[in-house]
Amino acid sequence: MMQERLSFDFPANTVNLEKIGELAAHAGHTAGFSEAEIGDIQLAIDEVCTNTIIHGLKKDPTRTFQLIIQWQSGEIEILIYEAGDPFDPEGIQVPDTGAPLEERSVGGLGIYLVREVMDEVTYGTDEDGVKTLYMAKRVK
Ligand SMILES: Nc1ncnc2c1ncn2[C@@H]1O[C@H](COP(=O)(O)OP(=O)(O)O)[C@@H](O)[C@H]1O
Ligand SMILES: [Mg+2]
Repeated sequence: MMQERLSFDFPANTVNLEKIGELAAHAGHTAGFSEAEIGDIQLAIDEVCTNTIIHGLKKDPTRTFQLIIQWQSGEIEILIYEAGDPFDPEGIQVPDTGAPLEERSVGGLGIYLVREVMDEVTYGTDEDGVKTLYMAKRVK
């Protein structure tokens, strides 16, 4: 198959997460991923878009982020462009999943999970200072 590409500007509102999950499932099916892999892709896209909406854009529905999903047989790529609050992804601590629940810090599991299920996760900044996130996954 030829590469397919979808691009959207979504307002920073969590109501958009359902639609984003459906788009990810459509792309994953067409690219030939298993149901389990599609579930993982949906988890990853939900986590990073939730972070963008809540942490980056502070749920301000007048602000938008760009979501690009592109795929071909055996591979999906997801890109997010978001001009929200800066953060240092290197500064996020790997959660101690072995520690008892009451000793673990709240939050911080999302990006950890995303890195577990995706083959590549790269945070960056483009030439205009807009935060970028690139994720890719290939069929096993
Ligand atoms: N798009 C983003 N913009 C700003 N900060 C972010 C973004 N994504 C993640 N972060 C920061 O990284 C932290 C860890 O994210 P995550 O692992 O998803 O945990 P959680 O969302 O539960 O706090 C967040 O608490 C937030 O401080
Ligand atoms: Mg999160």
